[in-house]
Amino acid sequence: MYVFKTVKDLQNYVANNRNEGKTIGFTPTMGALHQGHMSLLKISKEKADLSIFSIFVNPTQFNDEEDLKKYPRPIVADIELLEKNGCNALFLPSVKEVYPNNPQPLNLDLGKLDKVMEGEFREGHFAGVAQVVKRLLDIVLPDKLFMGQKDFQQFTIIQSMIDQLKITTELVVCPIMRVQSGLAMSSRNVRLSEKGRKEATLISKTLKAAKKKVDSSTPAKVEKWAMKELSAPGFEPEYFTIVDGHTLQPIKEFSDSDYVVACVATWLEGVRLIDNEILKP
Ligand code: PAF
Repeated sequence: MYVFKTVKDLQNYVANNRNEGKTIGFTPTMGALHQGHMSLLKISKEKADLSIFSIFVNPTQFNDEEDLKKYPRPIVADIELLEKNGCNALFLPSVKEVYPNNPQPLNLDLGKLDKVMEGEFREGHFAGVAQVVKRLLDIVLPDKLFMGQKDFQQFTIIQSMIDQLKITTELVVCPIMRVQSGLAMSSRNVRLSEKGRKEATLISKTLKAAKKKVDSSTPAKVEKWAMKELSAPGFEPEYFTIVDGHTLQPIKEFSDSDYVVACVATWLEGVRLIDNEILKP
């Protein structure tokens, strides 16, 4: 696997491969890679000739200095994992390389997409995510971009950015990977104790149970019930919200939309965990 630290080297590599007629698959990450990321790599390898990953802990999407500082950075293990799983190239840039002229704001109208859920609790987060993904897309110019369903709001916002800016890259959304207990795989899970990891299965259990209530309840009642479930000792839930999967806006009745998703964020042992479940179809 090639490891490129500069835009110039990566772009030379991409250009050479493109000249040979190869299609480029790109997966942006912030590292601390796990099997969830490897499932994205697997899909990338199926859908593109060349699979490129980036590892860049993007400072502009953190609204909490502590969270940024504590973000795990096991770079040696990450490189090993990518190599073992057949990634072709890794882009590992510095902040200066990504933002040579300091981060420039993106002129995007995200409407209400970034006002709800994560947007409510992490001000400026999605502006930072869109900014870095746009910058990385400009550098890599991939045919396909791979992102996980776990960050439901994130991929919805990136799709909106792609549509608005008429970017030709196709976004491929990959299913959530879970450990056997049901806990969604996340880079943040390494910060949980063994006990915490066991307790955290309450999140996916609550989502699954919520799905069973769709035919006999209302979104508001299910949200209230779920928030109570998630108020177990040690948990500090921020939201459990049932929304239309296209607009991310709350719905009154389950029949109001044909694409309904429940999204949740909660703190446990000082770690912020998110998850979601498509309730309909
Ligand atoms: O999901 C992530 O890891 C990040 O938000 C992303 C998409 C790599 C942008 O920094």
